[in-house]
Amino acid sequence: MAETSPPHPSDIFLPSPDAVHRSRVPDYDGLYARSIADPHSFWEERARLLSFTRRHETLLDWNPVTFEGRWLVGAQGNITHNALDRHVAEGYGTKTALIWSGDGGEEESITYAELLERTIRFSLVLKKLGVGKGDRVAIFLPPTPAQVVAMLACARLGAIHAVVFSGFSQAALKSRLEDFEPRVLVTADVAYRRGKTIPLLETARKAREGAAAVTSLLIVERKGDSPHTLLPGEHLFSELRDSVRHENPGDPEPMGADDPLFVLYTSGTTGKPKGIVHMHLGYMLGTFATTREIFDLRDSDVYFCVADPGWITGHSYIVYGPLLNRATVLLAEGTPDYPDAGRHWSLIERHRVTIYYSTPTTIRLLMRFGDDWPKKFDIRCLRILGSVGEPLNPEAWHWFRRVTGGHLPLIDTWWQTETGMIMVTPFVSTPEKPGSAGRPFPGVQIDVVDAKCRTVPPGETGTVVIRTPWPSMFRTVFRDPERYRKYWTEIPGAFFSGDSARRDEDGYFFFLGRVDDVIKVAGHRLGTAEIESALITHPHIAEAAAIGKPHELKGEIIKVFVVLHPHAEKTPPGHDEIKKHVRTELGAIAEPHEIDIVVSLPKTRSGKIMRRVLKAREMGLPEGDLSTLED
Ligand code: PRX
Repeated sequence: MAETSPPHPSDIFLPSPDAVHRSRVPDYDGLYARSIADPHSFWEERARLLSFTRRHETLLDWNPVTFEGRWLVGAQGNITHNALDRHVAEGYGTKTALIWSGDGGEEESITYAELLERTIRFSLVLKKLGVGKGDRVAIFLPPTPAQVVAMLACARLGAIHAVVFSGFSQAALKSRLEDFEPRVLVTADVAYRRGKTIPLLETARKAREGAAAVTSLLIVERKGDSPHTLLPGEHLFSELRDSVRHENPGDPEPMGADDPLFVLYTSGTTGKPKGIVHMHLGYMLGTFATTREIFDLRDSDVYFCVADPGWITGHSYIVYGPLLNRATVLLAEGTPDYPDAGRHWSLIERHRVTIYYSTPTTIRLLMRFGDDWPKKFDIRCLRILGSVGEPLNPEAWHWFRRVTGGHLPLIDTWWQTETGMIMVTPFVSTPEKPGSAGRPFPGVQIDVVDAKCRTVPPGETGTVVIRTPWPSMFRTVFRDPERYRKYWTEIPGAFFSGDSARRDEDGYFFFLGRVDDVIKVAGHRLGTAEIESALITHPHIAEAAAIGKPHELKGEIIKVFVVLHPHAEKTPPGHDEIKKHVRTELGAIAEPHEIDIVVSLPKTRSGKIMRRVLKAREMGLPEGDLSTLED
């Protein structure tokens, strides 16, 4: 999708001398060189800006055999102390922490003191349900203040949260609950999307059936007008909240280098999503430092990130990173074109947003609606633009920059659920090249290599690997250490990202997409095997193959090829029925865009589906080496 050939020299955008001068990173090249010569000092300096009940003895204990990176060994602290209590204690209790805009236009503004208060109350409710340090809590909530508060409340207790995107189907939620086995599942009675009411509680109830580990279902009420009949093990948050009113808030739980903060499920190359495990203290250091330096945060900023906290972008750059930096964060529910295409522009105008961290699919969608929409609003308050999740093609890059005044830095950030923090990025102070995510964050040794882990020359395509540990690196895959090892052994000697890229003479990265069986639809990560497993649960489908196909708006769309059972050939299921089936199994984001019913699939002699052959045919490209093809 992205045009990624290196830009013409005239297509390099220099920052204004004033921006460089005022930036938190005025000399990127110098800082990067120093950080690689002495990464220890680089991260130590940043760790010193955070508050701990006990300081660390060792910054990093790296085990090259198990590939475990233990950061801040010996330290004790809590991310919510740094994200909330500390700011209130330093006199910022009245500063706005969160501005929330609901799908229906309702708004709420919450100060740091209020957010702390709500977090404490929520943590007392969880405590009442038996949650303590090390216990697991699943959060299935729409993007609302309650979702943010539930995450912070878990972190404060030292409980491990797994946030599940509220657009997932009951089957997708169920499979995550079965793997995670949380003690408590937090949900809401309803969610709203494009003005429609979505019965979230129903989905949560169905998913909970058979998930024996879940002893309590905690329901946050949004509607509030219909009394709920509770089933055994179900609790209304509002009732428990009143019952803990007089309880002692207590201090945040002291957490160490080996204590997890959360598990977040993401798609990989098998049918089962993997639980990426992030550690409390290392994650705190990584997200704190990157948010501060990349977004150049100041107290006067209003920071708007369009993600849902149900994904990693929301974890790191709506909740933890910005709150650690005492930012004012705007969280918007809903979609960028509802009630109309002015949704984001009007939020920017009304709340005087200064930093707008968006996604390529959102930018391309807004671009489709044309220049008149941004022109209707006074968006001169903006000072930094951002993008994440998929390659940002130069056309969209230019449009985004042009309609926002033509002079703003556009920070295209590359990272992953596994990295927890931004790894490759431009800075306010660095020259920019459309289509490029810039260069590595200081302290990060990322490379483009061949199969033997040798750096490929500039201009050549290779695989993206990370050579050394970084603070917010994931520690393992939940219940699956072997899957964790695979990341480090696929290309021996480094972490395998699954992406390919090209680097130019100046060291700028141009990311090209995934090299594994992961599809990126509108920035969301889906495994081909996951979609195929969902398809073959349909009674008429015998075999299935899914591929990603380039798409103007969404980056990629899902195309599936299905082989029917002989008994179904006379009355084949319609395309709508197949789509609906996947929607029910996985959720709307996994719905196939195109379906072909075929008589057979190309396979290797050992029976593996050759998706690359399907993809090449689909795109009219050479099919490559077919020597292993069975038929
Ligand atoms: O392929 C890369 C793409 O998103 C993948 C990670 O997906 P996920 O774990 O869901 O995290 C998304 C948000 C961080 C990567 O392997 N990706 C992410 N950012 C970019 C990108 N591709 C190109 N340019 C980016 N800026």
